[in-house]
This record gives sequence, structure tokens and C-alpha cells, in this order.
Amino acid sequence: MAKEKILVTSALPYANGPIHLGHLSGAYLPADIYVRYKRLKGDDIIYVCGSDEHGVPITITADKEKITPKQVIDRFHEANKIAFEKFGMSFDIYSRTSLPVHHSTSQEFFKCFYDAGLLVEKKSMQFFDEKAKMFLPDRYVEGTCPRCGNEEARSDECEKCGSLYDPSELKNPKSKITGETPVLKETSHWFFPLGKYQERLVKYVDEMNEKFGWKDNVLQYCKGWFNDGLKDRAVTRDLDWGVKVPLDGVSNKVLYVWFEAVLGYISAAKELSEKRNEPELWKKFWQDEKTKYIAFIGKDNVVFHTIIFPAMLMAWNDAKSEKYVYPQNVPANEFLNFEGKKFSKSRGWGIDVTDFLDLFPADMLRYTLGANLPENKDTDFYWKEFQSRTNGELADILGNFVNRTFTFAHKHFDGKVPAKVKSEKIDEEMLAFLSEAPKKISELIENYKIKDAIFEMMNVARAGNKYFNDSEPWKSSKTDKEKCATTINICLNTIYTLAEIFEPVIPFTSKKIFDMLDAKPTDWMNSGLANLKEGHKLNEPQILFTKIEDAVIDEQINKLPKVEETPKEIVEEISIDEFKRVKLRVAKILEAENVKKSDKLLKLQIDLGSEKRQLVAGIAKSYLPEELIGKKVLVVANLKPAKLFGVESQGMVLALDTSEEGKVKLIEIDGSIELGKTAK
Ligand code: 2FM
Ligand code: ZN
Repeated sequence: MAKEKILVTSALPYANGPIHLGHLSGAYLPADIYVRYKRLKGDDIIYVCGSDEHGVPITITADKEKITPKQVIDRFHEANKIAFEKFGMSFDIYSRTSLPVHHSTSQEFFKCFYDAGLLVEKKSMQFFDEKAKMFLPDRYVEGTCPRCGNEEARSDECEKCGSLYDPSELKNPKSKITGETPVLKETSHWFFPLGKYQERLVKYVDEMNEKFGWKDNVLQYCKGWFNDGLKDRAVTRDLDWGVKVPLDGVSNKVLYVWFEAVLGYISAAKELSEKRNEPELWKKFWQDEKTKYIAFIGKDNVVFHTIIFPAMLMAWNDAKSEKYVYPQNVPANEFLNFEGKKFSKSRGWGIDVTDFLDLFPADMLRYTLGANLPENKDTDFYWKEFQSRTNGELADILGNFVNRTFTFAHKHFDGKVPAKVKSEKIDEEMLAFLSEAPKKISELIENYKIKDAIFEMMNVARAGNKYFNDSEPWKSSKTDKEKCATTINICLNTIYTLAEIFEPVIPFTSKKIFDMLDAKPTDWMNSGLANLKEGHKLNEPQILFTKIEDAVIDEQINKLPKVEETPKEIVEEISIDEFKRVKLRVAKILEAENVKKSDKLLKLQIDLGSEKRQLVAGIAKSYLPEELIGKKVLVVANLKPAKLFGVESQGMVLALDTSEEGKVKLIEIDGSIELGKTAK
């Protein structure tokens, strides 16, 4: 099989906090498994990552702790780098966006777009905190919504009523950094014309999907962005901390972190080139159309890798002769939650990687996370599941098979691989199964079905145990030595296969097993063949996994905050008669479309049985218009009509808040209920 040239990236984590298990499941472990597998296949591959070290949150942490942003990033870069190493991440380089090579690379891109006349300069009024001496990004201003009176509205939008307004309309603005009242000041920024690339981007996503099969969740996100229509995006900010805008006479402006962070993948490859003293290395991967570029990320970064970064690369490639490759696939994962809730540092919910690895070996965590990756939907880490996978699968299935085979080989065959002399049907079947296993697993990994691949890996150990049991070597050792030798030969070769196919998932254990076998991995596809020859001397067995006691797990569970206190809302009571005045009716959604200039609102045409109406609902961040057609929902039918963004709304559709900020879930009604029925 022809060798591939592959460039793999994982989202650059912010150097503003420790990484937790959720990060590992999203963008790191799946990538590491993929990369390790490709290396075993013999492909030419580099895997780059690094810390994302700019952005306002870092300056805020620095202000809070009265240290410099540099001290913040140094601390978390080092801590995260070590945590990744302990977890067994096999990056070829873990770079940082504060390095000069990254600054110059980002400035080069900005200059390229600027010189090509692509960037549009726009003036606007923005809040300025005179005490902090800085312009405030939207999320650092809070005030009262000029439309609905919500006191937690942002500078130019209200999450509660979905209104967008001019910052000058916000009442009682407060800086979230100093608590002072900010002033409005004129500033100007450069914008990247993303909309210009929409048509090419739609084509690019379609083509990649057709050729390489993109994941449904990723395609859905892209569709949502395309449906909304791509808009100009500011590429600069008024800030000290970051990559300086490379234009004469411009000071106190940096490149927006979204613009430069994605370029970190290129600068990381450049740093790798330098470290390896191979100046052309980064170009060999980034600037050769034969390169297969795969970007691993969590769902929150889909737009950057499928739309924004490709558009930037298109803009560069249009202007220059050295052309970059585009992501061939972006196998984004959903999120991992912790014991049923979102990870939250402030609420003490979750566990840092470093703390985890102080308690348990990395492979136990890699296996449990890998077996439960949020590939298609959000999943959870549960301590009890971690215990049962470790004890019931790693120890009882894999560990047990390796241990019983080694013990037997040392006791009956002097610690050497015995001869396979007497092959019966059961032996031939096992050998055939073994030779197919790496191919089957390979196909799953190639299609980013890593969870299923791990299941198949453990199935090889399951098959090994079954083969051992069915062959009954403890009997044949007394009655038929040749049959016994054949069984143990095949079991040892199964262990060899296991050591290799499991390497991407549990590399530390794989190494131990190879040491015990006194062997090395071979080409992945051949790892299911009988690689250990007769007479090969084995080393002493080691314990692979120690079972986890209940008490150890209970201690971790008990450490979690007891009940998550949801503050009791003080609500004004209403009488039953007042409640009865609200008419809640069942309706069916007939049509749905985006409301122009709003990324929150959808215009719905609904059928109430006796009449049809138009509603405007703040659900655009939670649903695509086409997903809504035909849904039966509950609406407030006697709400006074109102206009939102100039569109009339004759009622309100009911939805529930979710734990995800800005997202809601419609209250859906069973399909058999008639339209117009009243809720009582
Ligand atoms: O979401 C994050 O952690 C960002 N620091 C990722 C930046 S890399 C890429 F996604 F732009
Ligand atoms: Zn409002």
C-alpha cells in the first residue's frame, strides 16, 4: 500500500487554565490514536499542536492575580505540556503562539491580505474602560437591555429577548473588569471579507465530504453558518497583548486571536523544522497538494477549521505562489461531560488531567475515554464506569489473557515460544481471525470510528481468552504436548497482535507487553500474522493492570460538591385565574427561515388547527430552519403581537433553557395530539 504524507493538528488549548478530561476526549486523544496508528502503518506524518497564548481572558487572569500575561502563559504552557506528556500524547511539537516565529507568520498573513486590498477598514463606537485603559470586548460589558429591561444584557445584544442594538442604546453600562461605567469611543478595525468566499467554501466542503466523508455533525454546523450567510469578521482588536498589527502608525492594536491562533499550526510546523534542522520540512507538509491534512477539534471550533481558516488559506493562495493545503477532514467531536454535568472549574465539577494522573496510570484513562468518545453526541465520564472498564475489561480480559498465557509458557515451555506443529480447525480459525483483525480495526480508524475500533481491539483479547479456554491447554499439557504447544504459540502470537493494535490507545501497556515478549512492533497490517517464531525467548511477566477498589472510587465521588445548589428563584405568585388567561395551544411548524440581520431569530409559520400565524422565535442558535418543519410545539396563542427586527410575531413558542449557554430546547408535543388543543 502506498505510504501517505499526513499533517495532523489538534486545537491549540488556551494557556489560561489546566486541561481537563473533556479537552482530552474532544481533540487530543482521538488525534493521538490516529497518529500512532498511522505511524505504525509506516506513513510519513507530523503531528503539531501548542498553546494558544493570546486573547483577553489571559490579560484578565493576569490582572486578577497581579502578574503579567507572560507569567500566566508560562505557567499554563508548562503545566499543560507536562500533563499531555504524562497522558502519552505524542505530538511531534508542542509549540506556543507567543514565539517570534508565530508572530511573524501571522503578520505575514495579515500583510498579504492587506496588500491584496482584501481587508476593509471600518469605524465604530466601542466601550472604553478608562480605569483599565482598554477597549472592552462585548462580553466584558454588561448593562440593561433597551428593549426588555434585562439587566444582564451585553453591549450590543440581549440574550433574553434576542435583540441586537447599537452599544449607545445600552442602559447603565458597566465594565466587567473594573465595575466602572465605560465611555463610548471611536475606534477602527480591519475586517476580513468572509462573505466573498462563501460560494467557494460551500464547494470546498461539498467536495471534501464527497471524497472523504465528513461527519454529519460537522456538516450540520457548516450548513448552519452557510444558511445564515457569512459576514465580514474583524481581524484586529484594541489590546496590548497579542500579535501587533504590522502597519506603520498603528499602535495598541493586535490581531484578533481567532485570526492568528489557526496560523499557529503553520508556525508550530516551522518550529519543528528548526528543531529538526530540516528547513524545508514544514513546506513539505503544508505546501504540497499530496499532503493529507486532518484537523482534530472539539465542536466549538468547527467554524474555524471548516470555514474561516480555509477562507484565509484561499485568500493567501490567490495572492501567492506558495500554496497551502486545506483540511481534508475535520473529524470534530462533541463534548464530554462529567458525572452528568458540564465540567466547571468554578463549581469544582470535574478533574484536571494532572490530578487524575497522580492517582491512576494514563492508560486506564486513555482506555475509558477512548471507549466512550463523544464522536456523535455528548457523552459522560463516570467514575463507576472508569472502574468497571479498568477492572472488567483491561484487567479481567486483556490483563488476564496476557498473564495466564505467560504463566503457562514459563511453566511448561521454559519461557520460550513453543512450536506450532499440530494445527486443528480451532487453531486455523484463530489464526485467520488474527490476521484479519488489524485490517478491520484499520478501516474503523481511517473513518474516525475510534470508539468502535477500541471495541474491536478488546474483542481480540476476548477471542484470545475464549481460544485459551476452548483449547484447554491445562489438559493437553498432560495428554497431547504438541497440541498444547500449538495453543500457547498461537496465544503468544495473539499477545503480539494485541501489543501492536492496542499501542495507539494504551501505549505504556503496549510497551510493557513488547518488553515481556522481547519483541518490537512490525508493520500494522502484518501484526496479525504469526510474528513470534519457535524458540523465541520471553521475558518475565509483569502485572499490567491493578484493579481499582471500590473505596478508591468512592473517595473520588465523595470529593465532588454534594448537591449543586440551584438558587431558589423568588417568583411572584399568580392566581389560577391569572394563569387561565394564558392560552397555551398545540401548533405545527409549517415553515421556518432566518430573520435577516439576526443570528438568534427564526421566522416561523405555524398552524394552530383553526388558523395559521407567524411567530418570531429566538431559537436560531439551537435549530436549523429545516429541522423544525413538521414539529408540533406549544405556543402562547394570546400574547400581544410584537415586532422583532421589523418582523411581526403573533405569539410565542415555548422552549426550555439548556445547560449550554444560549441554547434552548423546544417543548415538543406528541404527534397524535390534535392541533389547537389547549394546555391546562
Ligand atoms: O478553543 C480553543 O481552545 C482555542 N484556543 C483553539 C484555538 S486553535 C484553533 F481552533 F483556532
Ligand atoms: Zn432584552
